[in-house]
Amino acid sequence: MQLMNLFRSSVGRKLFMACSGLMLAGFVAAHLLGNTTLFAGSAAINAYAEQLHKLGPVLWIFRLGLLGALLVHVTFGIWLTLQNRAAKPMGYAKKAVQSTTLAAETMIYSGLALLAFVVYHLLHFTLRKVGLETSLFSDAAGQVDVFRMIVLSFKQWPLVLLYTGGLAALFLHLSHGISSTFQTLGACNEQLLPLLRRAGLVAALALLAGYLSIPLLTYFGLVS
Ligand code: HEM
Repeated sequence: MQLMNLFRSSVGRKLFMACSGLMLAGFVAAHLLGNTTLFAGSAAINAYAEQLHKLGPVLWIFRLGLLGALLVHVTFGIWLTLQNRAAKPMGYAKKAVQSTTLAAETMIYSGLALLAFVVYHLLHFTLRKVGLETSLFSDAAGQVDVFRMIVLSFKQWPLVLLYTGGLAALFLHLSHGISSTFQTLGACNEQLLPLLRRAGLVAALALLAGYLSIPLLTYFGLVS
């Protein structure tokens, strides 16, 4: 019953958004750490991928949790946006001046662009249905060479461009999303807020730089 009340109130929906967002951002940070094994060479990233796959049912529980968080985040994000739009006063000649940023104003668009990128990314690297011919990076037994898959992918400029676009959406979304999450969870006093905003921006920039280094360094021949 209490869960239903939380579900109905806009504060409750924001809490769902914040908790699911935190889970997704945690994954994004952990995924980057895992991906940086690429820079240690073929053996390192292939061993890392193999260890992950060996987790079997644990990996599937983790994937289901992640999918659940994504579904909650997207559904509540769209719901809150529609609700906010419906509540906005219409018909004034002048818009009230508010302290806002491009990232805050475009959360729904950066979020949807990011979702489209994640769908493409799963088709590319997890399901291997787009981007490259599978025979280029797997042996006769169907064993996938993850290092080769990533390096061959990012030797193609259209894929580098596509990933750069997706990562730009990730940056825009997180540059507002991180501080907004902590604000929803209660960290919102006058002194803390500007600090929190700056920390969120720095964290989003660090993630952007880390992720972008993979396609860019690979394209320019520094990973091979
Ligand atoms: C240059 C950037 C990236 C690289 C090189 C990369 C690499 C990979 C690889 C190789 C896999 C497949 C792992 C395997 O099945 O062995 C994967 C899966 C995945 N990636 Fe990425 N990734 C990048 C960026 C991102 C970003 C920005 C997100 C999210 C916003 C993301 C979300 C995911 C998800 C959800 C999976 C599926 C995980 C699973 O199968 O359990 N990736 N990525």
